[in-house]
Order: sequence, then structure tokens, then C-alpha cells
Amino acid sequence: MTEFEALQKRVSVRSYESRAVEPEKLSELAALIDEINSASGLAFRLINTGDASVPAVKLSGAMFSGTVSSCALLIGGADEISSEMVGYFGEKLMLRAVSLGLGACWVAGTFDRKSVNVELHDDQRLWGVMPLGYATAKVPLKQRTIRAAIRGKDRKLEDFIESDHPVSSLPKWVMAGVEAVKAGPSAVNQQPVNIVYKDGLVTARIWKEKANSLKYNDLGIAKYQFQVAAEAAGVRGFWNFGDGGEFIADN
Ligand SMILES: Cc1cc2nc3c(=O)[nH]c(=O)nc-3n(C[C@H](O)[C@H](O)[C@H](O)COP(=O)(O)O)c2cc1C
Repeated sequence: MTEFEALQKRVSVRSYESRAVEPEKLSELAALIDEINSASGLAFRLINTGDASVPAVKLSGAMFSGTVSSCALLIGGADEISSEMVGYFGEKLMLRAVSLGLGACWVAGTFDRKSVNVELHDDQRLWGVMPLGYATAKVPLKQRTIRAAIRGKDRKLEDFIESDHPVSSLPKWVMAGVEAVKAGPSAVNQQPVNIVYKDGLVTARIWKEKANSLKYNDLGIAKYQFQVAAEAAGVRGFWNFGDGGEFIADN
């Protein structure tokens, strides 16, 4: 599965089979985490209990069902840029998990922090956890209802773009990126990030002033989603970090 196919397939999985993830898949995720940490200065970690019946993290029963014996800990600095990097690289990790046939979810709030045994430096923060496991073949009614309720408040595609051109005239690769931002995850589905296309420049900005404290996670996630979709549409590039950071397309 390509990364873009994983992006199209991804949803927040909240119901898991009590089935262990194979060691080869865990090794691939561990290698990616090593790569991410050395490229970014983040301190992501993979936890695996080695026993399908022993959870790696206690997820809230109000939102989740089943047991996950593997999960990633999304650890990084407490500042805005680190928070954004957690989002950007966390989404890269999530799409790799999906491409390996796994289900995952960003979980910043609805888990028991005490169930995660981790020592943090003073300048570090556990931004969230990412359970990694197998989605149940049938999604239980409760989890279907949760997703439908949250996703039911999606903004319209045109609302994700700010431009001095009519939306219908924007380059295809930009629109592919905007669609991927809309389809991507955000904390409580606040969708606080817009893509700005002005004077031929593409930037990403947090439009929602009152967004919650995870808005920089959301900014990084949106940028990664955009980048993967733009590349699938033929335009490779990279982002400058920061609110208002620019997407620099390769020539
Ligand atoms: C930073 C972040 C934190 C999140 N925290 C939680 C959480 O604590 N519990 C939960 O059930 N979902 C959590 N989510 C998942 C969002 O609710 C979900 O991405 C959003 O509703 C869109 O649905 P989808 O991911 O299925 O497309 C979080 C997502 C993000 C990006």
C-alpha cells in the first residue's frame, strides 16, 4: 500500500482485536521511530508488552474497546515547534502503521496517563499515545456513533482554503493537498488549519484562534497530510515549520 493509499484508508480506530502485532511490523515501526527521533530531536518510543492480553496503555472504555499490546508514546518538547513536529512526524508514523495493515488513533486525552510508565525530562511532554493494533472487522455501534458524531461537524472543503483566486482555478496538486487536510485527523475534529494560496505561495495557518492546546499538533498533521497528497498528485516538496510556514515545491 502506498503512503497516499494509507492516507485515504486511515480513520481513527477505536475498537481493537486482542491480537498481537507481528515482530516484523514492530521492527519496521521501531526503525521509523529511530529515524524520526534522529531527524527531529523528538523522543518517540514504542512500547510492546509481548502479551496480547496485556495492554500497553489503558484507553478510556468510554471511547475504546479491545486491548492493544503495542503503542507509540509521542514525546517531544513543550514548545510550539516541537508540538508541530509531534504532529508532522506522528502522522508519518500513523500512515506507516496503516500501510502495514494496522489500525491506530491519535489519543491525547482519553487514556490513563498513570498507566504509561515513562520518565520525562523537565522540558519534555507526553503529547499523546498512539495505540497500534488490529481493528475489529466490524466496528461496534458505539464507535461508529462516536465517529459519525464528531465527523458530522466537518467543515466544507472550500472553507479550508484561503486564496486570491477562485477555488475552481487552483492547481490540482494544491486541491489534492487541501482535500487531504480535510480528511486528516485533528483533536476533537476542530480542523483548525487552513491552506493559504496567495501570490503563487502555499502556506498553512491556524485560522481558529480559540482552538485547543493541541492546535500545533494539528498544524503538523495537516502539513504532513498535504505533503503526501501533493506528492501523489505530482508535486514533491517540503514545509517550513511554524504557523504560516511555506510549502516549498521542488523544481
Ligand atoms: C492531536 C489529537 C488528539 C486526539 N485525541 C483523541 C483522544 O484523546 N481520544 C479520541 O478518541 N480521539 C482522539 N483524537 C482523534 C480525533 O477525534 C479524530 O482524529 C477526529 O475526530 C477525526 O476523525 P478520524 O480521525 O476518524 O478521521 C485525537 C486526534 C488528534 C489529531
